[in-house]
Amino acid sequence: MVKILNNISLKPYNTFGLDVNAKHFVSVNSVAQLKTVLSNNDFSNYLFLGGGSNILLTKNVDALVIHLNLKGITTCAETKTDIEIDVAAGEKWHNFVLWSLKHNLGGLENLSLIPGNVGTSPIQNIGAYGVELKDIFVSCKALNIETLELKEFSKADCNFGYRDSIFKQKLKGKFIITEVRFKLTKQNHQLKTNYGAIQSELDFNGIKNPTIHDVSKAVIAIRSSKLPDPSKIGNSGSFFKNPVISKSHFEQLKVNFPDLPCYSIDDNNVKVPAGWLIEHLGFKGKRLGNYGVHHKQALVLVNYGDAKGEDIFELSKLIQQAAKQIFSINLETEVNIL
Ligand code: EPU
Repeated sequence: MVKILNNISLKPYNTFGLDVNAKHFVSVNSVAQLKTVLSNNDFSNYLFLGGGSNILLTKNVDALVIHLNLKGITTCAETKTDIEIDVAAGEKWHNFVLWSLKHNLGGLENLSLIPGNVGTSPIQNIGAYGVELKDIFVSCKALNIETLELKEFSKADCNFGYRDSIFKQKLKGKFIITEVRFKLTKQNHQLKTNYGAIQSELDFNGIKNPTIHDVSKAVIAIRSSKLPDPSKIGNSGSFFKNPVISKSHFEQLKVNFPDLPCYSIDDNNVKVPAGWLIEHLGFKGKRLGNYGVHHKQALVLVNYGDAKGEDIFELSKLIQQAAKQIFSINLETEVNIL
């Protein structure tokens, strides 16, 4: 039985902690329930919410909000060295990471403590500390909202890119991911510790031969030291993407900003850290009443209390304008604005 509720506050359902109302709300815990809700002709306008960790709600939602609460972690195939696991969309990402560590499975350790749910992880190909979701992704199942058919997407089908996939592009708003299959290692774990901060955290703790548990602990320590905990200070992680600019543009910027860091992309382009740009525009730690820019990571906009989504959105536009004016760079939001 699924019960559709009216006028529900979405505050507990978005990590920014914004208090906007959903006109209608339902939580589903199976594909069957999701199909039942979608075949109800009373509604045609939907907003799907997973962990609500990548959304800025600027107004009340005049639609049926469908909270995807499908649970379950099951093994589907295994060899001596690898294992394939099916995870339902509504599992919390970090709980899945903890589950994998408990079973001594490798591959997720660098992705520790990322907010959000498993079902939304492929949409923007979540990534941190040198690892992206696509590195351990095998396939996913997704429900076509129109036809209510389940379709399987291979890794190639998903067109993964930096914080990008087919679900953000061609298939935006057309499919709901219900389950994701991952391939993890049972032995000979391939540790990725070359991302600067991880290695120095391990060195600091005197760890010479790290395990997946050590790497996860290092990542948790680094993230906790600079990213605000959404259960304490509302936020959505990185608000903007790191922009890609041409090498010639980068060389021009270097004249006035010799310290500007960059990551190589290809022969013609580089990626520059949006956090650095925003800090050098003077926004880092800026607080406007109940909201602002986090003081330890300029890429993160925060809600200190009862901020309004529209105010945070205005602040994001000010940052974009300044970046355009000073660096001639268009900062794209990573967070979805609604
Ligand atoms: N930087 C600054 N000032 C700041 C923040 C960063 O100068 O306020 C500089 C740092 O000194 C460093 C560079 O920017 O030189 C990169 O900083 P950091 O390593 O913290 O990573 P990031 O590029 O800011 C990205 C992801 C994060 C992820 C980290 C670690 C994006 C948009 N963000 O941030 O992802 O945790 O790398 O891998 O790619 C998220 O998506 O929510 C998220 C937190």
